[in-house]
Amino acid sequence: LTEQCEVKNWDSTLPIPSDVLYQWVEDAEGIFCSGKVRVDERLLLHAEKVRVITQASVGYDNIDVDACTRRGIPFGNTPHVLVEATADLTFGILLSAARRIHEGWLQVRAGEWKNNFAIPFGNDLYGKVLGITGMGSIGAAVAKRAQTSGMQVIYHNRNRRKDDELLGTAYVSFNELLERSDFIVVLVPLSEQTKGLIGARELSRMKPTAYFINVARGGIVDSDALYRALKNRQIAYAALDVTNPEPLPASHPLLELDNILITPHIGSATHETRDKMARLAVDNLLAGLVHKPLQTCVNQSVNYVDEERQI
Ligand code: DGY
Repeated sequence: LTEQCEVKNWDSTLPIPSDVLYQWVEDAEGIFCSGKVRVDERLLLHAEKVRVITQASVGYDNIDVDACTRRGIPFGNTPHVLVEATADLTFGILLSAARRIHEGWLQVRAGEWKNNFAIPFGNDLYGKVLGITGMGSIGAAVAKRAQTSGMQVIYHNRNRRKDDELLGTAYVSFNELLERSDFIVVLVPLSEQTKGLIGARELSRMKPTAYFINVARGGIVDSDALYRALKNRQIAYAALDVTNPEPLPASHPLLELDNILITPHIGSATHETRDKMARLAVDNLLAGLVHKPLQTCVNQSVNYVDEERQI
């Protein structure tokens, strides 16, 4: 970006103050956003010259896409390129939780590995039911990994996938998914409809032996209800790559539990994948600045049109 644009880059670990942000946005023609900044009507009021907004992530719950569309500003995210890395992490924390891999390592490192010591016992994946809510491309990639381990995969989406038989997965209602799954993976995007999707009611429908895995967004789960369900052994275990809030403070009650594994939102965090995400977000930004179509545009109705290809 610095080769082709004048760049103002907020690289502090502290959030950018609103007055600085608004001032920068007033001069800007494009915004390369981080998930921590809210792009809403208030910010866009200052964005008269902005003709493109991009972000290196697939999720965009921090962006008011309708507000961008009303102003004719295309917004580009980075889907596809992070599918395999995120599916690996999802299945990785599921497996690590099921087999207590991280607990075993902590015991070994603490010098507790002695004859007759209490080794951590986990659960088999083979023959178990994995329920995925939010079966998009990451869900399908998780399903493939689970099937290789001998799991049966069921899923719930707002709409049934046409290719679900091909994927070897079965469509079920949300309640059936909660009740039948041995492992439940949440992959829905965060929106007004999915905020708090997993609360006390949903947790109470799960099996007492259920493992709950969230790799989507922390806000999809009611953290207090999850804490109670784990503490009271209403469900067996949780593996979370996302939390609410993020970062999770060291004093958070979830960290007192012994039936939880939490990773710091690293779903797509591999060198290769983050590089692809950054490049795609940069390509989208540079394209938008010269009124060319963004490769991956969320609000297609206001994406730029390739004049040459139309002729
Ligand atoms: C995404 O791409 O949405 C990941 O969660 C990183 O924010």
